[in-house]
Amino acid sequence: MKFEKINAPKGVREYLPPESSAFEWVRSQLIAPAKLAGYKLMELPVFEDTNLFSRGVGESTDVVSKEMYTFEDRGGRSITLRPEGTAGVMRAVIEQSLDRAQLPVKVWYSGQFFRAERPQAGRFRQFYQVGIEAIGLDDPAIDAEVIAIADRGFKNLGLKNYRLEITSLGDAESRAAHRVDLLAFIKTLNLDEATSQRAGINPLRLFDDKRPEMQSAMSKAPLLLDYLSDSARNNFEKVQSYLRGMRIDFVINPRMVRGLDYYTGTTFEFIHPDLGAQSGIGGGGRYDGLMEILGGQSLSGIGFGLGVDRALLAAIAEDSLPTEEFTSDLFIIPLGENAMDSALTIAQDVRSAGITVEIAFGDRALKGAMKAADKSGARFVVVLGDSELLNGSVDLKRMSDGVVTSVKIAQLQDQMRQALSL
Ligand code: HAM
Repeated sequence: MKFEKINAPKGVREYLPPESSAFEWVRSQLIAPAKLAGYKLMELPVFEDTNLFSRGVGESTDVVSKEMYTFEDRGGRSITLRPEGTAGVMRAVIEQSLDRAQLPVKVWYSGQFFRAERPQAGRFRQFYQVGIEAIGLDDPAIDAEVIAIADRGFKNLGLKNYRLEITSLGDAESRAAHRVDLLAFIKTLNLDEATSQRAGINPLRLFDDKRPEMQSAMSKAPLLLDYLSDSARNNFEKVQSYLRGMRIDFVINPRMVRGLDYYTGTTFEFIHPDLGAQSGIGGGGRYDGLMEILGGQSLSGIGFGLGVDRALLAAIAEDSLPTEEFTSDLFIIPLGENAMDSALTIAQDVRSAGITVEIAFGDRALKGAMKAADKSGARFVVVLGDSELLNGSVDLKRMSDGVVTSVKIAQLQDQMRQALSL
């Protein structure tokens, strides 16, 4: 009997060698600035009580109304695969009382997220984010720092073509004033049932409606930025002045609508124009009511999520990946059993200096092993045979130009360190 092969579910993105090295590099570069700023890891479940997202992210959002992977577990509980990270962080902070200790709580996370969207280039049903959240401090300085951390992550990747868009969704007072005028404006439009329902829950959603007739209708709608209270305006100006101080370029986009309902105050998105329709490589903002909605005390917070898949696509588009970093430094080819014994010891020694070393395993002839060395892309190759063991020295071959240097085996680590300028 012949079994049929099984494919991965539709819309998921997998990273296999050799591409996975680039993915891993992008992810670590994106999150490195958060660690340097004192953010600590939070490792959370990928599934949560469905209420966490319907309440936290908002019923008017596509994420909750159309895109959640929801199922009943064996105990009859409604469970959802996390579509985003902020609600889960907030749930854990409340549940474990982290908000009763030193504030702000500053955490980072990294992992897969799930949205049942229509798959297309840069849009996946399982995708990867790194993110941070700073909870318990309402201060424009931390808003600016959070944005700067995200920006540094993209700069770490060598990206240049992206732009940072910022806006402010104001405080409760600003939003209430704007809402009155916006609802009055929306009433003058001829909306279908579903759209007016969405507008009833969150009228700002209509700015995000991609249909050309809606875009043109909304072009005359009142903008929240024109309704900011004095303190919200002051805050937003402070954020801008801090960003200028750090020489971070930005543009103000008063029509920005984030796909999640919890945002208040400073909100931002990073857009990469080379990525086509799915150009958002990261985004975030302040969410001052979220903790209370989730049953905690009334504390503010701000954070971001960066799309690792899209950041990788952007780095490929800008040709900014340091591909030489993804290959081995040294490839050792042992000829015979004695040589294998030494190869294992030498590899351990050289690796202890942080140098990547591969061994050609198996009883291969020299020609086959050289082919494997070539294929591995290793920067240096040594062949270890009986005569090399006898002399205690090897020929170290630099693969880029074929230059060969004779090196004492005992000095191989030092020589490699020099060659790689470590
Ligand atoms: P978000 O804007 O929904 O924010 O997602 C952040 C990033 O995740 C996006 O900019 C995009 O790069 C990536 N992303 C989202 N959906 C997909 C997808 N289907 N395929 C590939 N990449 C995707 C949040 O999730 C918020 N939790 C961010 C945040 C943290 N706000 C405050 N704190």
